[in-house]
Amino acid sequence: METVKHAEGRTLLLVPKASVTMVPPPTSPVFFNPAASLNRDVTVAMTAASGGKTLCDSMAGVGARGVRVANEVEGISEVTMVDFNAEALRLARRSASLNRVNDRCTYANAETSSHLYSRYGRGQRYDCVDVDPFGSPVRQMQAALSATADGGILSLTATDTAVLCGVHQATCARRYGSTPLNNHFHHETGIRILLAALARNGAAMDIGIEPLAAHSTRHYLRIYARVRPGASRAEATLRGLGRLSWCPHCGDVQGPRSPTSACRVCGRKTKPAGQLWVGDVVEESLVTAAKKEALARGLTQAADVLGSLEGVNGFPPWSFDIDRVCSELRVPTASELAVYRSLTRAGHRVMRTPFEKTGMKTDATYAEVAKAVGAASSKGASPRPRARASAPRSSSRARS
Ligand SMILES: C[S@@+](CC[C@H](N)C(=O)[O-])C[C@H]1O[C@@H](n2cnc3c(N)ncnc32)[C@H](O)[C@@H]1O
Ligand SMILES: [Zn+2]
Repeated sequence: METVKHAEGRTLLLVPKASVTMVPPPTSPVFFNPAASLNRDVTVAMTAASGGKTLCDSMAGVGARGVRVANEVEGISEVTMVDFNAEALRLARRSASLNRVNDRCTYANAETSSHLYSRYGRGQRYDCVDVDPFGSPVRQMQAALSATADGGILSLTATDTAVLCGVHQATCARRYGSTPLNNHFHHETGIRILLAALARNGAAMDIGIEPLAAHSTRHYLRIYARVRPGASRAEATLRGLGRLSWCPHCGDVQGPRSPTSACRVCGRKTKPAGQLWVGDVVEESLVTAAKKEALARGLTQAADVLGSLEGVNGFPPWSFDIDRVCSELRVPTASELAVYRSLTRAGHRVMRTPFEKTGMKTDATYAEVAKAVGAASSKGASPRPRARASAPRSSSRARS
């Protein structure tokens, strides 16, 4: 396999030449995706902000994440890189040498869950555990929860975005025990389904979780949660689960405690979603500290991702897409800014949603948003044709 040196963050990585010339990169003999650099940038910032000393990169591949954390996070003392692909770990070891961080790195040529389960003992757990599979992280959830220290951070990537975002409903029910939505806030719903699955898997083992951060970027969803062992913490976590109902006809959303099968606005049949995590998704002080860590390292996109989460707590677990509301109401496109202003003047909280390409989060109801859109929509332009409120079935691209 021909390898090249590839710079990412402040680190030089040895990667297969084909992985930087082919899109998508080959999965064999080893996998490296340069397009996932933002995912790793956010890990560097979050790990630095957390003050954790040990990290398990439990699906390390060529060690891009693990070597970067060892090299770019001053406070880290030990990074363990796990992969069942020995060739990938050989590259990880060479990259660690290249960056002179081999003394901070250990390698386990093992199956991820068996390695993580072997570290369930109190003094053996990691401060941070990362799970980065091809597809769903659901198989590794219990092992990863077991191997994370009390107060430590577990991060998970899911690339089965089409499942979590409502394109394959039956698979989502089977894999995550939840009903997703294929609409304009499907990435947020997917993130909340993933958090709910983690919460339920933890609860089964008397482990609670506290969500810390989440993002939806390119083709994947990503969550960070603090792990809190204890039966009472597990029970408290389950109180953060709920359900929604969304009306595909008029766009109203009900929940998270009182979803309805008939829409309260138009009376037609709604679509259910859940169970979802309906509590706060962000630990504000950690996200702000991580944003500063990202900025200090020149990781500006990561800083933007983290900054976009500030203030998101306290909003209902959905968003409104103003273009979509305009087409529902058959009025000309309204400026988002004018709608923001109108809602704010009416006393509502409003922010751009961090989870979708477009849309706003607000504590206003659909009817109140529709009123603001009506007021903001430019008068005299010809009305638009009515569009269905659901998103295109194939659309599962996360925001980039
Ligand atoms: C998406 S790649 C990881 C990419 C890496 N985290 C990065 O940022 O470059 C998934 C990796 O997990 C490894 N893997 C998948 N399932 C595994 C398992 N059950 N046990 C150990 N390694 C596994 C694969 O060999 C592959 O290297
Ligand atoms: Zn309705």
